[in-house]
Amino acid sequence: MTLPQLNIGVIGLGVMGQRMLARLAAHARLNPVLVWDANPAAIAQTLQQYPALQAATSAAQLIAAPGLHSLYIATPPAPHMALSELAFDAGLAVFCEKPLTVDFEAARRCIDRIEARGHRAAVNFALASSPGLALLQQHFGSGRASELGSLQTVELALAFAAWPRPWQAGAGAWLSERIEGGFSREVLSHFIFALQRVLGPATLVRSQVDYPSDGHRAETGLQAELQAGSVKIHIQGLVGGAQADHNAMRWCADAGEISMSEWFSRIEQRRADGQLLAGPTNDASELRQAGQLDQLDQWVALIEGRPHGLPGYTEALAVQQTIEAMLQTRSNSW
Ligand SMILES: NC(=O)c1ccc[n+]([C@@H]2O[C@H](COP(=O)([O-])OP(=O)(O)OC[C@H]3O[C@@H](n4cnc5c(N)ncnc54)[C@H](O)[C@@H]3O)[C@@H](O)[C@H]2O)c1
Repeated sequence: MTLPQLNIGVIGLGVMGQRMLARLAAHARLNPVLVWDANPAAIAQTLQQYPALQAATSAAQLIAAPGLHSLYIATPPAPHMALSELAFDAGLAVFCEKPLTVDFEAARRCIDRIEARGHRAAVNFALASSPGLALLQQHFGSGRASELGSLQTVELALAFAAWPRPWQAGAGAWLSERIEGGFSREVLSHFIFALQRVLGPATLVRSQVDYPSDGHRAETGLQAELQAGSVKIHIQGLVGGAQADHNAMRWCADAGEISMSEWFSRIEQRRADGQLLAGPTNDASELRQAGQLDQLDQWVALIEGRPHGLPGYTEALAVQQTIEAMLQTRSNSW
């Protein structure tokens, strides 16, 4: 039996919009049909690459187009909430890029509406579909007993030789600026999502943020300590070092630990005496591809109103609240 195609509208045709179009091109059911971007050059380039797509004349016209099932939003954060609201007006399921927004009032209004009317909405934290996150939930999710014992601390280290990273160098100026950009919102948010999905809400104990002296560019360093239940979380982020995109997370329990790097695609489990229990995984790109495919299938489930594992707007707002708290609080107590 051939399952029906689900027509997707895409708003935002920059770095991430292009990545998603490439992934959608290989999916059996998610079918991008209509695109729009505030920059006409981005539309022209997209139509050249995907001649079967059509361009709308505005975001509102795209969203109101007949026959669409879902809207994918890949603009910078500022328009995310307004575009979501328009899409809900049109009865569309929304898949929105992270970070959800830095406008918490608008996010709360949007979430109230989702809860009251049952709108379908999710946010693209790709780790939600990763086998690594499933492993962490299996060991440390609420009510689980792990052979690794009880979780004590989580350590997260991020480093970027340059910000933005080379693959995102073509993104708009917003990504390097303090108002909406920076590595904490862009990258750290993925790991805070994973952390809070496993452990529940984390509270800020202290943080220190280093900003360039020009007053507008995004952070170049972040140190933070969070607490989730009895678990302490230590975070270090830095623009510097030799690696383009380094991320490593250690989940340390009293009888062993799980360490993950390269976006949860390299995974190792050890007992406290150092004995290797599993890993390291050596099929990093396969793990990533499996996660990406699973994510698209979850998006299909969202559109069809079936249960799915994608983060909703409430979960994404909780991530952003933790991120903004880290960015705003300054402390000299390190
Ligand atoms: N989930 C992930 O792994 C991941 C990775 C990279 C980026 N992102 C997110 O995707 C979003 C886009 O990032 P990017 O790197 O593609 O940025 P980008 O600057 O490359 O692209 C943004 C595009 O949106 C367009 N745009 C801006 N305002 C608009 C509006 N009001 N209406 C229509 N189009 C508008 C711009 O012209 C540009 O083409 C951000 O929220 C970013 O954080 C997510």
